[in-house]
Amino acid sequence: MRSVLAIAVVAAAAAAVLFLGSEAQEVKQGQQHTHRISEHRHGEGNRLQINKMYWDPKCICNKNAGSAGDVLEDDPVGRLKVYVYDLPARYNKKLPEKDPRCLTHMFAAEIFVHRSLLSSAVRTLDPEEADWFYAPVYTTCDLTPSGHPMPFDSPRMMRGAIRLLAERWPYWNRSEGADHFFVTPHDFGACFHFQEEKAVARGVLPLLRRATLVQTFGQRRHACLQDGSITVPPYAPPGKMEEARRLLPPGGTPRSTFVYFRGLFYDAGNDPEGGYYARGARASVWENFKSNPLFDISTERPATYYQDMQRAVFCLCPLGWAPWSPRLVEAVVFGCIPVVIADDIVLPFADAIPWEEIGVFVAEDDVPRLDAILTSIPVEVVLRKQRLLASPAMKRAVLFPQPAQPGDAFHQILNGLARKLPHGDGVFVKVKPGQTVLNWTAGPPGDLKPW
Ligand SMILES: *[C@@H]1O[C@H](CO)[C@@H](O)[C@H](O)[C@H]1NC(C)=O
Ligand SMILES: *[C@@H]1O[C@H](CO)[C@@H](O)[C@H](O)[C@H]1NC(C)=O
Repeated sequence: MRSVLAIAVVAAAAAAVLFLGSEAQEVKQGQQHTHRISEHRHGEGNRLQINKMYWDPKCICNKNAGSAGDVLEDDPVGRLKVYVYDLPARYNKKLPEKDPRCLTHMFAAEIFVHRSLLSSAVRTLDPEEADWFYAPVYTTCDLTPSGHPMPFDSPRMMRGAIRLLAERWPYWNRSEGADHFFVTPHDFGACFHFQEEKAVARGVLPLLRRATLVQTFGQRRHACLQDGSITVPPYAPPGKMEEARRLLPPGGTPRSTFVYFRGLFYDAGNDPEGGYYARGARASVWENFKSNPLFDISTERPATYYQDMQRAVFCLCPLGWAPWSPRLVEAVVFGCIPVVIADDIVLPFADAIPWEEIGVFVAEDDVPRLDAILTSIPVEVVLRKQRLLASPAMKRAVLFPQPAQPGDAFHQILNGLARKLPHGDGVFVKVKPGQTVLNWTAGPPGDLKPW
């Protein structure tokens, strides 16, 4: 307990130093300074209270606090049977062998869903009894030298895989994919482009328009999210996160930081004029709060990033190029209340995880009022959110551990697929021989080249 107190005192002292530093700066700026300083004073007062009030060690120890709800605990076994196509290894296994970075980046779910399915109790080796067909295609494992996943070959690769399975097995043609699912975790899912405008112009790869897409991208009324898709969390390495949790004393530490964020505010390389990246929301966070002592925000990601999140009350999860980022998963795992700034976002497993109750949602236009919005949330509400976040069920549901565990993200995907059963009449296409519903040759000519 003594060390916990010591940390709180150090944090308060650090906050005071930070406060004095910004006050000194503000005084030089003339005109507005009185107003700004009084805001800082107000903020500082809150910060000192935060150390005392927003940390309730009891809630961290009580594992049953804040039941996550029945849906999160659903068991998919016995409710669906999945047939896994055996595709040539160049569509899947060979790729991470060539570039192991694919196993750890934020799109790695496509690999772990495949591995988990192979040994899952829901797998069937008899396609005749399958409810769902799954084709393991790792479309995000094409990395630039600096490790950024490139989606440019993904449409050709996907088309190649579908052509292959449609020729070898009879199941694709009878439904044109409506009882098939694919994992497409790129920024804009199966639109296969990382820039939104281009992704929207492409639309979902035509061959996948009847299939169920398991994807990270989720935004309401968007060309890259078709009805019936399953939105999943991005991949964050469970082992590393568990290690970070063990580094802190059991029972946790005081949450002495009010708002925490590490990441880009501007993406000068891809958005030199500004305004496109994060639709300006991240730039607004920086411009408004860079010298606010309640905000610990910076572009530099320290080695203590994971520990720092465990010491924060609120963790900002603003949109970047896409509405989501791994911060959402990190915030849940580290019990830091996610502050979602991404209008119209569709959150992962929204039918199972009570996002409204655990998170805070701030409209992109309201970013300049972020400090007022967060400081006005009653302490009881904050403590309740922290209690819900402390539930192990919540953390399990956003992670892809290997091997898979009951209640983890893989199981939530299976639950999502089970909830879509039985398939409706519309699944099996009734067309004359030789005719199809989907157009095999639609799309940019470059996509048609064999993969
Ligand atoms: C399915 O349809 C495609 C395109 O019409 C055709 O090339 C393929 O041979 C068909 N597959 C089977 C198993 O009949
Ligand atoms: C399929 O799409 C291509 C390219 O847009 C188009 O030229 C072709 O006519 C379409 N085929 C059918 C059967 O609609």
